[in-house]
Amino acid sequence: MQNGHGVIFSDGELWKATRRYTLASLRDLGMGKKRIEGKIQEELQFLVELIKSFKDEAFPLKTLTLATTNVAYGIVFGDRFDYDDETFLTLLKHVDDVVVLLGEPQLQVYNVYPFLGFLLKPHKMILDTMEKTRVILREYLAAGKKSINENLLQNYYDYMLTKQQSEERSKDRNLFHDTNIVAAVFDLVLAGTETTGTTLQWAILLMMKYPDIQRQAREEIERVIGLERLPTCEDRKQLPFNNAIVHEVQRFASILQQFPRCTAVDTCFRGYFIPKGTPVIPSLTSVLYDKTQWETPTQFNPNHFLDAEGNFVKKDAFLPFTIGRRNCPGESLALMEIFLFFVGLLQRFTFCPPPGKTVSDLDLTPEVTFTLRPQAYSTCAVH
Ligand code: HEM
Repeated sequence: MQNGHGVIFSDGELWKATRRYTLASLRDLGMGKKRIEGKIQEELQFLVELIKSFKDEAFPLKTLTLATTNVAYGIVFGDRFDYDDETFLTLLKHVDDVVVLLGEPQLQVYNVYPFLGFLLKPHKMILDTMEKTRVILREYLAAGKKSINENLLQNYYDYMLTKQQSEERSKDRNLFHDTNIVAAVFDLVLAGTETTGTTLQWAILLMMKYPDIQRQAREEIERVIGLERLPTCEDRKQLPFNNAIVHEVQRFASILQQFPRCTAVDTCFRGYFIPKGTPVIPSLTSVLYDKTQWETPTQFNPNHFLDAEGNFVKKDAFLPFTIGRRNCPGESLALMEIFLFFVGLLQRFTFCPPPGKTVSDLDLTPEVTFTLRPQAYSTCAVH
């Protein structure tokens, strides 16, 4: 997909340098800090206005992804997009197509038997859509080269371009070439949007499915921060029930099941010898649904993260971002986003099934794409 460039699909020296610099740039751009909290709060207000405009009428859950996408895009491109901006909607559509196609069984067939490629379509469609996306991302790169001000780096492109310029000056390496920058941007556009958007959709679907939990969550919000003030990350400590819900949403939804890796060295694991270079596909669900770690692994149960007094408890087996050297670099951003959007939405709306559907009609069986998405339901948000 990326010809070994970027962060997700690269390895060796290029991966190390691109990942390290991506993490540093994300931190400089405010990830995990007040600055990004402010951006998320701002985006929350745009989302609230959009939802209000539906005037209690049903709207697709997918609408929520506009806001989470805009937070990541703010980091990558330096500014949020209007929700009806043509480039924004085109990028959303391309990413959506790629994510859906990545879940196609035919693609797995192609990965195992590439010589059957001439009979199969999804891999061609993915490559085609990725190229269309790159055309847009290259335009931003060209514009970034013209406007960059080394004393005022405003977005991820600026950081990557500074690195490119310093490599050119020192003539020592050439890792941050245009192809790698565009691939790394693509990775953030893909990994930073689909994941948080899907999680937020799950959260609201689960609140529709379990109205009592939704009511309790709202009562806690009303009691602790009221119905006016915007939520902050600090509120997490005072909102243990809401904090437990968002953790349980991530555990229960277990949205990322497959991320193919390979053994970096000869490895012995549970009595099996796995030679260096063998493809392995870790299963996160095996941890997030582990019977020895969770009381009711297959049920949505916020008590998994609460003690008898209702205090929030961390769990070692809560690993939706994985651990290790390749763990998710967007973890702190994602946790912030999910908490603030969730609390901010529940503070203002009650979410109910759309007309013609009852709570028992809501089916929690996921739709299999690259992520496990909730089914394409609509919701009514009563202000
Ligand atoms: C609910 C939200 C998210 C979840 C559940 C999630 C989960 C994951 C997982 C499981 C991996 C694979 C780690 C591995 O291979 O060991 C990953 C990788 C990655 N994620 Fe996330 N992620 C989320 C949000 C984000 C965000 C917001 C960003 C960007 C700002 C991001 C950027 C990345 C990147 C670049 C990688 C590749 C890391 C590497 O290969 O070195 N993710 N994520």
